[in-house]
Amino acid sequence: MCGIVGYVGGQDAVPVILDGLKRLEYRGYDSAGVAVVNQGSLQRRRSAGKLDRLASSLAAEPLRGEWGLGHTRWATHGRPTEENAHPHQDCGGHIVVVHNGIIENHLELKERLVEEGHRFVTQTDTEVLAHLVESAYRGSLEEAAREALARVRGVYALVLLHRDEPQRLVAARMGPPLVIGVGESEHFIASDIPALLRHTRDFVFLEDGDVATVTPTALSVRNLEGVEVTRPPQRVTWDPVQAEKGGYRHFMLKEIHEQPRAARDTLLGRFSVEDGEVLLDELGPAAAGLREASRVMLLACGTSWHAGLVGKFLIEHLAGLPAEVDYGSEFRYRTPLVGPGTVAVAISQSGETADTLAAFREAKSRGALPIAICNVRGSMLTREAVGSLLTHAGPEIGVASTKAFTSQLVALALLALHLGRLRGTLSPDQCREHLVALARIPHLMEQALSRADEIEELTRSLTHATDFLYLGRGINYPIALEGALKLKEISYVHAEGYPAGEMKHGPIALIDDALPVVALCADDHVYEKMLSNIQEAKARGGRVIAVAPSGNGDLRGLLDGPGDAILEIPSCPALWSPFITVLPLQLLAYHVALRAGRDVDQPRNLAKSVTVE
Ligand code: M6R
Repeated sequence: MCGIVGYVGGQDAVPVILDGLKRLEYRGYDSAGVAVVNQGSLQRRRSAGKLDRLASSLAAEPLRGEWGLGHTRWATHGRPTEENAHPHQDCGGHIVVVHNGIIENHLELKERLVEEGHRFVTQTDTEVLAHLVESAYRGSLEEAAREALARVRGVYALVLLHRDEPQRLVAARMGPPLVIGVGESEHFIASDIPALLRHTRDFVFLEDGDVATVTPTALSVRNLEGVEVTRPPQRVTWDPVQAEKGGYRHFMLKEIHEQPRAARDTLLGRFSVEDGEVLLDELGPAAAGLREASRVMLLACGTSWHAGLVGKFLIEHLAGLPAEVDYGSEFRYRTPLVGPGTVAVAISQSGETADTLAAFREAKSRGALPIAICNVRGSMLTREAVGSLLTHAGPEIGVASTKAFTSQLVALALLALHLGRLRGTLSPDQCREHLVALARIPHLMEQALSRADEIEELTRSLTHATDFLYLGRGINYPIALEGALKLKEISYVHAEGYPAGEMKHGPIALIDDALPVVALCADDHVYEKMLSNIQEAKARGGRVIAVAPSGNGDLRGLLDGPGDAILEIPSCPALWSPFITVLPLQLLAYHVALRAGRDVDQPRNLAKSVTVE
């Protein structure tokens, strides 16, 4: 949500900022702008719509910048117009600010500032920041920022510059992420790592309450009271090439095909087949706490929540531990029975999702042991956790989560097996057997993805469908939910996921020949039951697309109607089938969206990291 880029150094700031903003496009936005200082003159350029419009305007009338900042805005307060686009400035036109987040008390602050004589020209909450800093400014931007922020209630990642403080940017964070890239006699600021990977791999991760000042050669971080804090740079191992499309038409397609690699990398070095053990030393002090666990609480949102549902199944089945899954956005608004003995596992690709973080903090404050499953080292979630299990998906740029999801499944599988060994529900031999099967999964994923063309072909006949029903049972029920979410978010076609057994309790009324029913069948103990559900749908004239292991003649006999199809997947142990069944569903969503002419990587209204509640 919103992208921020700032630059101080020897390069022209404008292309650096534009390129960074381009690489943050996946976060979601609807207007964009830059502000730079050149030879003592502060200039802004903003536009509604996508970055291309801003780039065209800059090509027509170029700007040069000795230093500067830029922003892509995802509208919250005020329509996505040029006037409301960031950067916003003070009355004097000396100070500009870009901001991600929400200033909750902006109306009350605005009222006072107007009384003091400040003139507001936008409908945004952010504009108060420029005027607050202006009113506090007595020669030091950093001090004015600190004084202004003391009056602010809300969440923010922001960057400020003052025309008369050359080559200096001030950044502050309370909530949404902000990283500082460290270069050779230059510094960069951004909302997310991929914006800066082509310049540096060394990052300082700001924490809540940090106020940082950067010049080309200096970086200092203080807290809101002005006390210096130490934030050593960390080296990020992400390959910049992973943040490029690499010949694929969309990031989403590239990321779908990267899943075998991501699953392998997430497994790598974390188990010993010889010993039949999972090695999770990286959990640090949390590793010991796992022994005492009496229950597991999985907290997440969206796709990560679906991973949590699979995780619950695995943990209960393999470790015999009660596991519960809750939405980050719901958990803290009930009375959760969480305390010592509960392991709170937050699952998040970004590690910055506001709802997941809030739930995690709530669980932590109630005495739970906080563990993160996360794709971003140094993210807020990993910093708040006692132990983290990183997924090694690499940067995920497409808004629709794909490789992060299957990597989360790998992490959850390892955690469940580990808990099983700790609690003695699995012997080393049993654990070994599961590990051997798990280690084969990336290869089976490759096999499943090699049938991508069939799925593309199938979607030709789906262009008129306005609703889809996804059915699954047991460990594949969450995959039905995930398949439906993927389709909804990128194609804007309505889809629902249901446990197949629930169909007869309501959704069966929807079935006719216009509603594709996507049925997930695995080699498991509910396979026969899925066949019965498929028969129920067929008996009502339904059109069924089954995802099923190859060699199932019984299914073939059933699905001989004009619109019916079987998407064959390689056979694998039931417990690991979600890794495979989800793949055709991701491809189905992708191709349906493509045929509908959607913006697959940046679907409307969505943001990659949802950093507001
Ligand atoms: O970064 P997180 O995993 O915490 O994000 C959670 C959800 O916002 C995310 O999974 C969202 O549902 C995706 N758009 C799904 O594709």
